[in-house]
Order: sequence, then C-alpha cells, then structure tokens
Amino acid sequence: MLSINYRNGDKMPIIGLGTWKSEPGELYSAVRESIRLGYRHFDCAAQYDNEVEVGKALHDSMKNDEIKREDIWVTSKLPNNGHLREDVLPSLSKTLTDLKLDYLNLYLIHWPVAYKPEINWPEKSGDYLSLEEAPLLETWAGMIECRKLGLVKHIGVSNFSINKLQKLIISSDFIPEVNQIERHPYLSQLKLVEFCKSNNINIIAYSPLGSGDRPKELKSKNESVLLENPIVKTIAKKYRCSPAQILISWSLKNSIAVIPKSTNSKRLKDNFDSVDINISDNDMERLSTLNIDFRYVHGKYFIGNGSPYTLENIWD
Ligand code: A2P
Repeated sequence: MLSINYRNGDKMPIIGLGTWKSEPGELYSAVRESIRLGYRHFDCAAQYDNEVEVGKALHDSMKNDEIKREDIWVTSKLPNNGHLREDVLPSLSKTLTDLKLDYLNLYLIHWPVAYKPEINWPEKSGDYLSLEEAPLLETWAGMIECRKLGLVKHIGVSNFSINKLQKLIISSDFIPEVNQIERHPYLSQLKLVEFCKSNNINIIAYSPLGSGDRPKELKSKNESVLLENPIVKTIAKKYRCSPAQILISWSLKNSIAVIPKSTNSKRLKDNFDSVDINISDNDMERLSTLNIDFRYVHGKYFIGNGSPYTLENIWD
C-alpha cells in the first residue's frame, strides 16, 4: 500500500477507512471485512459516537492474529466539548478506552469550534465556548501534552483554515503534522493544500465521495451529487472502473491520503483497489475543472441561535 511520510519517518497508509455515518451493527463487520481486504488505516472520532464498535472489531481482529497493533494506523479526534486544556487528556483517555488501545497513531482537533464540556450537541448560545473563551492555542497545548505522554504518536488538526494554521505555527513550537479537510473535485482547496505542503503538514481528505449518506438536515438544497457528475462518469467508463474509484485515485495521484467510508464489502474492495488506477495528466486536468468551492460539510449547524461562530469565522 502506498503511504504518506511523517517528519520522523513514520508511514501512514494512503487509503483509510472512514467511519463517520456508519450504522451501528454494520460498522463492526465493515472494520473486520476491511482488515481482510488489506485496509490498515482507520479514521475515527469521538463525535461519530461509534468508537466502541470500532474498538471491538480491532480487538477481535488482533485476537484472531489477523493484525498486530503495530501494523495499523488509527486516527481519532478531540470532540468539540474537550477543547479546554484540562479536558484534552480526559477526552483522549475516553477514546483510548472506547477503541481498546493504549495509544493512537494520530489525534486531531476535530473542529475549530468549542462547546462547554457538558454539552454534546449545542442548542443555544450558552452551550458554546467562543475561541476567546477556549483559545485554540490552549487546546493545542493539551494536544502537545498528550503527545509528550506517548499516548499519541502524531498530532494535528481538522477543518483548519490557512489563517488558523498560521496562528498555531507562529505561536507554538510544534507545528501540526496533519490538517484533515474536506476535499474532492468540487472542493479542491488548492491554496490550503499548497500552504500545508510548503509547511510540511500532511493532508487527509475526508468526504472524498461527496458523503451522500449525510442526514437530510446536513444537506444543502439542490446539491450536486459528485458520484453522478457526467465528467467523473465519463472518465470512469474510460478506465473501466467506478466513479468512486476515479474520485479516490484523483487524491492518490495528488499524494493526498483519503478516507472513503463504506460498510458494503463490494464497495470496500472497490475503494481499496483504486490504487491500481492511474489517471492520465490530461484526465486529472479535466477533473480539476470541476472545482466550484462547494462544501458538503458546510458547518452551518454550528451557527445561528446566538452561537459565537459564523461561516466566516469558521472558514476564515
Ligand atoms: P456505503 O457505505 O453503502 O458503501 P464519503 O466517503 O464521501 O463520506 O461517502 C460515503 C458514501 O459513499 C456512503 O453513502 C457510501 O455508501 C458511499 N460509497 C462508498 N463507496 C462507494 C463506491 N465505491 N461506490 C458508490 N458509493 C460508495
């Protein structure tokens, strides 16, 4: 499997299994099946509310000698209610317990958005903490502490803009190793990708297939379905593969890690086999014309009702 290098030489498999939105009951089998197919990178988060199921599947695969801990890469993310510095380590400990692991390969600040510690889903203005009340630099200091304790090998962020990354780079002596962002041909984020590459920050692309299984409330009106885009479909026909494989290999060709979600064995295999597709420069060029700066994961659920967050200050 192709991999992405970290500054200390560690290698992360370039394709990982996305676990957001996986139905309870289906996720356990999906993780077990993905391991049989060769997946060795698993992308998790406390906020997906399913780490116990992932943990059981990883544990059972290890017990059956299908994998060893050192063969797999496990990422998780700090929930929005764990941003206060003193809450970072307890949040990580809960994730480690749920995943039945004693360390993570990678821990990310999930969103540049903070809630009060007792809030799981904010409903009113008082449920949030603003970034003045819970500064990202303090949260980052908590992440650095987790790394120093050896509980996580690598640390990074997710959904961070250039502006927010720059502030961390200037003020902290440890630069994030990863920025996990939404990325696909409708949202190529060229400037952000360029900025991360020039600062040695690895990118992991989430929602590479357009996350069609998001709940209705998270969808925009009349959003365009990436997997049904005519150019993507035409290119897929040419390479005798599926549109999903074209979208995944588009990331691979750019040397960007990608975490497609599936709980279906055929599609898990399809996605993993995308490494065998080699899109020509010309077809990469055609795919790059699709960019419309469109976010499927827009963050609108963090705004309104007196929230201190706006789309402008989240994506600044
Ligand atoms: P399923 O889990 O039933 O396979 P994203 O990774 O962008 O969040 O997209 C996940 C969505 O894409 C899910 O609805 C998932 O459905 C679907 N999906 C995953 N792999 C494929 C594939 N190879 N072809 C078509 N749809 C796919």
